[in-house]
Formats: sequence, C-alpha cells, structure tokens
Amino acid sequence: MMIRFRSPGVKVIWAASLLVSIGLLLLPFVFRLDGKPHADWQQFLGRFHPLVVHLPVGLILLVPVLEFAGRVRPALLEAAMFVLSLSLLSCVLALSLGYLLAYGSGDAGAGVSRHMWGGIALTIAVLGCVLVRGAAGGVRGFYPYLLASVMLLLAWTAHQGGSLTHGDKYLTEYLPRPLKRIGGMGTVQAKAFDFPDSFYARHLYPIFDANCLVCHGTQKVKGGLRMDTYDRLMRGGKEGAVIIPGKPERSILLERITLPADHKKFMPSEGKPPLKAEEIAWIRAWIQQGASEEVKSLAGIDVPEPFREEPVPQVGDYRKLMGEITQTAKSAGVTLVPVSKNLGDGLILNTVNAGPKFGDAQLAGLVRFAPYIVEAELGRTSVTDGSFATLGKFGHLRALHLEETSVTGAGLANLAQLPQLTYLNLSGTQVTQASIAPLTSMKNLRHVYLYNTPAQPASAERQTP
Ligand code: HEC
Repeated sequence: MMIRFRSPGVKVIWAASLLVSIGLLLLPFVFRLDGKPHADWQQFLGRFHPLVVHLPVGLILLVPVLEFAGRVRPALLEAAMFVLSLSLLSCVLALSLGYLLAYGSGDAGAGVSRHMWGGIALTIAVLGCVLVRGAAGGVRGFYPYLLASVMLLLAWTAHQGGSLTHGDKYLTEYLPRPLKRIGGMGTVQAKAFDFPDSFYARHLYPIFDANCLVCHGTQKVKGGLRMDTYDRLMRGGKEGAVIIPGKPERSILLERITLPADHKKFMPSEGKPPLKAEEIAWIRAWIQQGASEEVKSLAGIDVPEPFREEPVPQVGDYRKLMGEITQTAKSAGVTLVPVSKNLGDGLILNTVNAGPKFGDAQLAGLVRFAPYIVEAELGRTSVTDGSFATLGKFGHLRALHLEETSVTGAGLANLAQLPQLTYLNLSGTQVTQASIAPLTSMKNLRHVYLYNTPAQPASAERQTP
C-alpha cells in the first residue's frame, strides 16, 4: 500500500514514532526485570497500573464502535480518530505504570513477561493505527486489519494481566464443562515429580503450592525465587540459596516463615495467613535431615494419612440379563434388587418373602447370576451346609446372612473363595469353633456374628476371627 507523505511534518512524525517503537522494544533489555525490588517511588506509582489499565481497554474498544457508527453518522468518524489518539496516550501511561510496578516490586516470571510484551506490542500497534489511519485519511487500506489485530492483542494482554492478579485458572474455573472440554481444559494435569512418594512431593510441595507459588511460581517470581520444582527451590533467590541442607538455622526460607507476622520480611507476604505450626515443623525437620528430594519419611515426623474411602469393587454389566433376572427371582419368590442406581454396585438377594420355601435347590437355581450378587440375605431360609459349595461361586459377595438356618459349618471352607466377603452372620446356627476355623484365613472378613451358636465365645456375642 501507498503511504502518502503530505508534508515534511508528517515525515517527522513517522520517524519519531519509529524511534518510540524501537525504544519500547528495547526497554526490557535496558531495565531488565531481574526479580529484585527497586525504588519505593516506582512501586508507589506502579500500583496505579491496575486502575489506569482500564482506560486503554475502554477507549480501544470504543474505536471500532465509532468506526462502524460513523457509516451512518459521519461526525463519529472524527470522534473515532480522537478516541484512537486518546487510546494511544492511555496505552503509554498504563505501560509506563505497569513497567514501574514490575520493575519496582521485583516482579519477574513468564506470566509477567508475557503481559509486558503484550503491553508493548499493543502500544506499538495502536501507534501504528493512529499513523495508518491518519495517512489513509479514514477506514481504508491496511487500517481495518491493524485495528482487528489491536483487538486480539488487547484481549490476550488483558487476559495475561488478569492471570497475574487472579491466577491463570480464574476465567476458566467456572466455565461450563462442555466448553472446557472443547478448550481442552477439562483435565487438570497432575504435577510430575521425580520422586512422587517422597516427603517433599507429598507433604511439602502442597504447602508451597497453597501458600507461596502465587508469588514464587511460573507466573510471578518475587525475589528471584521459584519454588515450583525441587531444583529451583534449592537454587534459591536473589540472595542465593534459601535452604541449607542440615542447617535450618541458616536457611533463609525457614527464617522468613518464622518471623513475627507483622515483620517486613515475613513470608508469605502481603498479609497472607502464616503457615501452620505443624507445617513449619515439617519444613524444619526436612531441612535438618538433609532437605532431600527422595526420602519418604522423616525421623520424628508423623504425618497422618488422609482417610481414603476404598472404591467399591464393581460387578460386571448385567443390563442385558435384567429381564431374565427379574423373571427367575419372581418364580423363586425372592427379589434381586440393585444396591444403587449404579448397576455396577451389584444386586441384593432378598429371600424374606420366600422364607422356608427357599432352600439349596432354589439357591442353585440363581447361580447363573452369582457374579452380580453382592449381598445374600438367606437368614431363616431352609438352606443347609449343602449350599456352601454354591455360595463359593458368588465371587462378588460382600455380605452373607445365614442366621437361624440349619447350617453346621461343614463345607464352610468354600467361603474362603470369596475375597470380598466382609460380613458373615451365623447367629442361631449350629456352627462350632472347629467348623468355622477356615474363616481365619479370610483377610477382608471383618464382621462375623456367632450369637447363640456352639461356637460363641464364652462372654462375647460378636467375634472377629
Ligand atoms: C504475595 C506474594 C508472596 C507470597 C505469597 C510469598 N512471597 Fe516470598 N517473597 C515475596 C517478595 C515480594 C519477595 C522479595 C522481597 C523480599 O525479599 O522480601 C519474596 C522473597 C522471598 C524469599 C527471599 C528470596 C531471596 O533470595 O531473597 C524467600 C525465602 C521467600 N520469599 C519465601 C516464601 C515462602 C516460603 C512463601 C510461602 C510460605 C512465600 N515466600 C510466599 C512475595 C511473596
């Protein structure tokens, strides 16, 4: 495209703009963001950045609105150029204050860097818009494309800035699931540790993650210190190592977290809540015992394991058999009902309506569905020792009721084939200590009821073998 130089004055403007752009591009190399805090006045002014930064956002967004509206009301086209020029001024102001903020407070890191380059690129692009629009004398030529790129740059830079203040998941945290999936943001990448079982990975990293990484992580690197990996943590900050293995009293990190909370150097800073006494004790013991990346436990430190519910083992898919199951159960006068709406949780065999009419033969008739039955309520039925062989095929059985039946325990050894059996009720039967002996080998069997049997221990109703 042709750039028409209409007067020598315009030439000067272009040359000056070129110089300004080069200056902006060199700025980060002249005043490097080295993670060290600088003058207080810089921080003082810099803290107006988050406020002032809304000016360029608002003004820039107004430009395309005015350009479009100008097609109907040509007076607005003139306003567009005016607002565009104001945008440029506000960009320069916001950029300067932002730079003072980062430089003054010792901010560094990939997130800060991205936001900074976004701001510089945006300012140069807006400057370009002013020049190109001025030269073309309206919405012509290269200008619309440049303005479109300004919009994209603005969105990107603003997002980077937002991530710095709110964390990088701020925008997407409450995004509806399907959209997250489209954006590939549905899965949280688990952090990869070289030694995932180590004390560091399991107990210390989570403390740093929750309390320190906002300022000492990938997004921001205050004081030149990154704590997001073991290596970076050990490398330390601008004053060198912050952890001296074996020497807690000389480790700056420990010193910083144990200062009085109102001390200028206290960490976490900016009034964030201090670490718990217990967490500090772990960090101290870890440093004392060598600050290793690998050791799994520390002498004298007992970390309570979080209670974890064991997942319920799932039975196979019996959906296709559903009709048959209901039919068979009905003719036997019993019910087979799902434990929950999740079919994989299995079925409960309930014989209460059949009572004594339910015996060994009826149980054998259900053996086809044995793999799906997790609980069998056979109390007060006519089943005998003859059913133990059948029950041995109920591989998913977790609870078995045989109370008030005529079993004596012969063949009870078949139950040892049921790895998931945790509950067995034999109360009111004729089982003896000798006949229940095979149960002792069953590791998961936690509850065995022997009330009112010859096997009942002298003074207890309930016994765990
Ligand atoms: C709100 C931001 C913020 C948080 C959160 C934070 N820090 Fe800092 N940290 C800073 C700043 C700013 C500096 C640099 C100024 C200074 O040295 O006080 C710093 C410096 C440090 C230093 C000194 C580095 C050096 O070499 O000079 C250590 C050690 C440190 N922090 C540890 C921690 C620990 C441990 C936590 C978490 C318990 C933490 N910080 C949380 C902002 C923070």
